[in-house]
Amino acid sequence: MAMKPISFAAVTIIVGSVIGLTDGDVLGGSAVGSGDKIVKTNCVQCHRIEGKPAPRRTKQAPDLIWAGNKYQHDWLVAWLQNPEFKLYPVGYDFRPERKKGHLALPADQAKAVTDFLATRKDDRIKAGLMKPGTPEQLERGQKLYRDHGCQNCHFTPAKSAKGFVGGTSSTSFIKLNERLNADWVYRFNQNPNDFEPDSGAYIPKPPLPDDDIYAITAYMMTFK
Ligand code: HEC
Ligand code: HEC
Repeated sequence: MAMKPISFAAVTIIVGSVIGLTDGDVLGGSAVGSGDKIVKTNCVQCHRIEGKPAPRRTKQAPDLIWAGNKYQHDWLVAWLQNPEFKLYPVGYDFRPERKKGHLALPADQAKAVTDFLATRKDDRIKAGLMKPGTPEQLERGQKLYRDHGCQNCHFTPAKSAKGFVGGTSSTSFIKLNERLNADWVYRFNQNPNDFEPDSGAYIPKPPLPDDDIYAITAYMMTFK
């Protein structure tokens, strides 16, 4: 019963943003403008869209500060409409009350939000550096990925009965090739602390040479 007012509130917010969308269009607002409004009404209470990198324990949801570099457009449009696929298998911050389903958007709003989030860019990420790996790079990347135990904290596609292996303490890498942009993954792998400081991300000591990071990233981009 305690659930009811919450879901009514959520419905009101969604209806409110639909009205906002119409206003924006009448006033000549672009799709980015209405996406901006939807995000600022419905998302920023959990997600940060600007600011400096901060530890996971201080946040309720993953940062969208660099969303324009991080996510593939088509994946984001689809996931926002049907966010059933769990990115964090045991929840983002482990508290059971936060395990409720993610808010879903109708198609037009999902597109407008994706266009707006595409404007959230971070200059540290250089576009066009990553290319599909050569067979040698992929083989090397696979070995490095295993040797460093990346699968211990990330669901990783595998030829097992479930179709994947791995631990639950961070993001799932199932279908990573549809979800993330290679250039963002490469820059993240160069130093996770530049994005998720003091959050328990794995950092090899000594740091891996760039060729190895490139090889791991190229291998990860084969995850279907
Ligand atoms: C009640 C808090 C909350 C609200 C409100 C919310 N989110 Fe989320 N969001 C989360 C959590 C928690 C996750 C991690 C979900 C998972 O594990 O699958 C998440 C995941 C995401 C992701 C994937 C992040 C990643 O790096 O994997 C995107 C993109 C996203 N949300 C966008 C949005 C947008 C756009 C809105 C507004 C329309 C929104 N969220 C509203 C809590 C929230
Ligand atoms: C000890 C657990 C652990 C191990 C091992 C680990 N990671 Fe992570 N990884 C994390 C945490 C924690 C984060 C921060 C994101 C979060 O969970 O909030 C993260 C985030 C990431 C992200 C960003 C994912 C996203 O969707 O935002 C990438 C890419 C990544 N790790 C790559 C790797 C690679 C490559 C390896 C092996 C060299 C590795 N990880 C090993 C815990 C781990």
